[in-house]
Amino acid sequence: MAKFIIEGQQKLKGSIEVLGAKNAAIKMVAASCLINGITVLENVPDILDIQKIMVILKKLGVKFSQTNHKLLIDTTYLKKGNPDPILVGLIRASIILVGPLLARFKKVKISHPGGCTIGRRPIDQHLKAFRALGIKIRENQDYYEFEQDGPLLNNPIVFDKISVGATENILLFASLCEQQTVISNAAIEPEIIDLIEFLKKAGAKIEVNNRRITIIGRHALKAVTHRVIPDRIEAGTFMIMAAVTNNPLKITGVVTDHLESLFEKFNKMGVEFEKRKDFVYIKKSKEIKATDITTAEYPGFPTDLQPPMGVLLTQAKGTSKINEDIFENRLGYLNELKKMGADIKKISNKKAEITGPSILKGAKIHSLDLRAGATLIIAGLTANGITEISQAENIDRGYEKIENRLQNIGAKIKRV
Ligand code: EPZ
Repeated sequence: MAKFIIEGQQKLKGSIEVLGAKNAAIKMVAASCLINGITVLENVPDILDIQKIMVILKKLGVKFSQTNHKLLIDTTYLKKGNPDPILVGLIRASIILVGPLLARFKKVKISHPGGCTIGRRPIDQHLKAFRALGIKIRENQDYYEFEQDGPLLNNPIVFDKISVGATENILLFASLCEQQTVISNAAIEPEIIDLIEFLKKAGAKIEVNNRRITIIGRHALKAVTHRVIPDRIEAGTFMIMAAVTNNPLKITGVVTDHLESLFEKFNKMGVEFEKRKDFVYIKKSKEIKATDITTAEYPGFPTDLQPPMGVLLTQAKGTSKINEDIFENRLGYLNELKKMGADIKKISNKKAEITGPSILKGAKIHSLDLRAGATLIIAGLTANGITEISQAENIDRGYEKIENRLQNIGAKIKRV
């Protein structure tokens, strides 16, 4: 297991580029299984989660070649089979393979994707939606077996809870079914809208009207070339990093429309920035004020930016409240920030109060998960002294060569 060692309080300067969106690219790799031929994806980040889903699909006959963020996916020899249960256990997003593999082969068995450090993460909404379409599901404690053994039903799908993964699973499945499927109370994150663009290019007819998505699928989809949107969470992470360390930084390749909820908080807090068409310049701020954060589905404040925002709140004047409303256990990183000297009161697994500004000191801390890990890098860059973050691989899941990119803007960070 690798570690990051950070010597804090270095001056950061220059610009840092945002790469392609992890949570769109993974779903498009899965979507390529709906197509018999070669899919070309551009702007694909070179990160662990993408590599893991590629390994699962390689075992089912899919071939990949990757250069300069361009990924060629050849599904000509994709064969009927089940995703390897051990590999499925390594990446929760593998549940998204159900839609495409079921649509192609009418049957798929997948092991339980399990919970993770941020919560239990049930899949009841995925199951409910497939059942509404007439799919038979057998389940036991180890796996789910999905089967289409007759004509599909075209019952409307109404989610009880807005779910990114369940919306995407049905979108993928329905795009290869010759009928109209209507999803209500759907998730409409920018990554889902990008996936819809991909599926439309491949031939599916899809309309989005508020949280209602209508899909008219096709008997076969055609091969496409698609450029993945920039990663709004990586963009937000870098902007928050500039604000916390109070270093002017230019963040390039940003779709600013995707981050309105973050800009709104920056305005309230007095974080100074300049927003242009595809870059954001974070300036030195005079004083950062406390604010309250409640996470919500898009276009609300993203749960994936709640941990980075938590470290910004340690530097804000006054008491801020965090209310994590999406995941049940995503405040673990606060214990690590406390070790660094932050003034934090945990009210429950989902609520906390942070009082600032506090002086952070270097410490030995654990990355816990992807976003918590990125957050602790920001804390390490801000802290006085040396910070050691264990399990660097958690961060590699979603941020490509993070240490090299931060070294380029002046950070002292190394991997050991
Ligand atoms: C996606 O996870 C993202 N992952 C997450 O990013 C992101 O935090 C999340 O959406 C919310 O935006 C990928 O895209 C690979 P959900 P997903 O289904 O699809 C509950 C990151 O760091 N729920 O919208 O798993 C669930 O437990 C990751 O990049 C049910 O109860 O999220 C959670 O509390 C972390 N039943 C909430 O809904 C279900 O059937 C939202 O989950 C499905 C979900």
